[in-house]
Amino acid sequence: MAYLEVENATKVYGGAARALDGVSLSVGRDEFFTLLGPSGCGKTTLLRSIAGFIELSDGNIKLDGRRLDTVPAHKRDIGMVFQDYAVFPHLTVSENVAFGLKARKVPAADIQRRVAEALATARLTDFRDRLPAAMSGGQQQRIGLARAMVIRPKLLLMDEPLSNLDAKLRVDLRDEIRDIQKKIGIAAIYVTHDQEEALAISDRICVMSTGRIQQIGTPQDIYSSPQTLFAASFVGTMNVLQRGTDPALEASILQDAPASLSQWAIRPEHIRLGEGDLPADTIRVPGTVEKYTYLGREAHIAAKTSVGKLVVQVADPEPSLTMEQGHPVTLAFRRGHVMGFDQQGARVSLGAR
Ligand SMILES: Nc1ncnc2c1ncn2[C@@H]1O[C@H](COP(=O)(O)OP(=O)(O)OP(=O)(O)O)[C@@H](O)[C@H]1O
Ligand SMILES: [Mg+2]
Repeated sequence: MAYLEVENATKVYGGAARALDGVSLSVGRDEFFTLLGPSGCGKTTLLRSIAGFIELSDGNIKLDGRRLDTVPAHKRDIGMVFQDYAVFPHLTVSENVAFGLKARKVPAADIQRRVAEALATARLTDFRDRLPAAMSGGQQQRIGLARAMVIRPKLLLMDEPLSNLDAKLRVDLRDEIRDIQKKIGIAAIYVTHDQEEALAISDRICVMSTGRIQQIGTPQDIYSSPQTLFAASFVGTMNVLQRGTDPALEASILQDAPASLSQWAIRPEHIRLGEGDLPADTIRVPGTVEKYTYLGREAHIAAKTSVGKLVVQVADPEPSLTMEQGHPVTLAFRRGHVMGFDQQGARVSLGAR
């Protein structure tokens, strides 16, 4: 059952284009839900509308069956974690975490116990008497998390909480955030523009672009069955080709695709260099190497073909393998892995393949 319900949320900031344009979604009671999209697509606007810092131009938001628009931000029981940590520099770690409880006039004995619990959950117990300035970015963000959790909010909102951290720490802390969310069983909405982070952390992902929802689904849905060209290209990498470049070859790839299909797409990991035994629905496309990029655990070969440029991903490449520009290659992929899209970028069915 829906716990948080957003209906037709629309936001126009003084005369400009719509930052949110009819967004409707619902989030379950213990769900980890992620808003994913490029800069400016409206993620923060939606999050701050839920928190009560921004008033919607139209639409409404319900939490646990209750409309939020009449409830002021500080009474919404919503915890928020920000990109820039937003910790109080003059307070120790435990004072930071206790702050929201004191403001809510929680009895002192309860404050002590709850702060101790939150510190333990965020693995900050050993740092309780430190000032934030003497802590790393990752540790400071854990203070932000502990402070948001300790008030036992009905909903936890996180706006790009990891984007100021280095790559390795981001991965560690995202796993921790996910574990904590599941352990305390709280509904969470997480904002990121990092597609890998979204795939790793979420129960469901909402892909957004220019104030609108492109698709909502599990990480598997979004990655393997994207419903729009935008979702297909934003999550993971995608070869996108225009129809009409080599009609004869395209006829065998697209078979009886409808006339509305104007672009087709295939993921680099679904293309291989065509040697050996291949399944019956395999298409072979001749091409020449434009660029070879070695990335350690994989390599990318960009090839020029008569249907357009295709990037092939090779897993675990031999370190001795290199490919000169102009080197002839045969690319092989299965028809079943090809996706079709219309002029507007909506998914077009290619029928039974
Ligand atoms: N206070 C404001 N006044 C006018 N326009 C605004 C205001 N805040 C945001 N916008 C505009 O609304 C749109 C959505 O902004 P928003 O901050 O929600 O995007 P975002 O998805 O969070 O982007 P980012 O990933 O860069 O944080 C943008 O076009 C932005 O310029
Ligand atoms: Mg933002």
